[in-house]
Amino acid sequence: PGPGVTRPGVPAPRTVGEVADAARQFFVRCHGAPPSTVWTAPGRVNLIGEHTDYNGGLVLPAALPHRTAVAAAPRDDGLVVLHSAARDAAPVTLPVTALRPGAPDGWAAYPAGVLAELRAAGAELDGVSLAVVSDVPAGAGLSSSAALEVATAGVLADLAGLEPEPRMLAETGRLAEHRYAGVPCGVMDQLAVSCCRADHALLLDTRDGTLDHIPLDPGAAGTTLLVADTRVSHRLADGAYAERRAGCEEAARLLGVADLREAEARDGAPDSVLAELPSPLRPWVRHVVNENTRVRRVAHLLRSGDVRGVGPLLTAGHASLRDDFAVSCPEVDVVVGAAVAAGALGARMTGGGFGGSVVVLVETAAVGAVTDAVHRAAHRAGQPEPRVFPATPAAGAA
Ligand code: ADP
Ligand code: GAL
Repeated sequence: PGPGVTRPGVPAPRTVGEVADAARQFFVRCHGAPPSTVWTAPGRVNLIGEHTDYNGGLVLPAALPHRTAVAAAPRDDGLVVLHSAARDAAPVTLPVTALRPGAPDGWAAYPAGVLAELRAAGAELDGVSLAVVSDVPAGAGLSSSAALEVATAGVLADLAGLEPEPRMLAETGRLAEHRYAGVPCGVMDQLAVSCCRADHALLLDTRDGTLDHIPLDPGAAGTTLLVADTRVSHRLADGAYAERRAGCEEAARLLGVADLREAEARDGAPDSVLAELPSPLRPWVRHVVNENTRVRRVAHLLRSGDVRGVGPLLTAGHASLRDDFAVSCPEVDVVVGAAVAAGALGARMTGGGFGGSVVVLVETAAVGAVTDAVHRAAHRAGQPEPRVFPATPAAGAA
């Protein structure tokens, strides 16, 4: 395939209108009447700033053109009836009063958790019917869960007559993810999904919640942002994420700082700070401190219009995640290595790690060569065929 040609198995995202219409039609099929509201929310790819969002650090994600749409209507029988068009997502029905962590479980925990969180915050929501359709690859480190949560928060805010303020939607989704999906994630995913703008990356300072929209139009710079979903997900990911999080908190405690963002400021000399720490906390902290610096540099380059200059920082960020923070895996390293060897400007794992997706910045003229190299390398290594697709920064939830 030539530049920009997608291969079989790569989801071509529908437009906002198309995916919303699909949700309306699916709602009618499932519930027998039209919905009263529809929200869509995108997946996200994190450009740089990994494992910094629970350390008071900086992140720089962008929304994907792939979206999840949730259609909803109120019910007067006190039931929650949840349908998703996703494979393996069986419909779920239960009384709204029966919602609690663990009930329901599986996919329905995400929308049900959002409903439970809004009710706990005082929203007047009793019975509700939902129908979900999505183009966001699930379980690929691209925040399909945050897209589902935030789109659900949007429709439920509508049904409850609440102001659908983006930060409120994000925070509701994050709480649902913590309490109902049992994932102790940071704040990046839901905020990215809620707040991103088309043709911009979102610089988020998780210390004070400041959001800064930075123009990012890779195409105008003759470049393309690719996502390569490795289609690998290692089971140790959940435990390792919680372990990293706890380790970073322990390191902050040992260093006498509130969070690792403060560690970087101490004396301006990270090495002397790091020397005080036991292994493996030393390389973990080094990653977090250096990653925040890389985010600042990438933000500066983007602001000055130097998209190409971002590439080496992505690759350096990957080395840090692989060697210092130890959250990569062989399959992801194969894809990153092949992309860079084939002439990509830069590549790194994106998201929590241990599988998932790689973000690649590439000259548009080299998209075909880099895509081919990634596929060949995965084949040679005997790992699943990656799904490679372009990621033009898209708009947040609406
Ligand atoms: P990610 O958020 O990176 O895609 P997670 O493992 O955190 O990965 O979340 C994926 C899970 O979210 C799926 O296994 C499923 O339970 C749920 N999910 C996401 N999108 C949908 C959808 N459209 N329909 C049903 N469940 C979904
Ligand atoms: C994700 C998590 C985010 C962030 C990221 C690593 O899985 O949801 O909050 O911590 O890992 O940067």
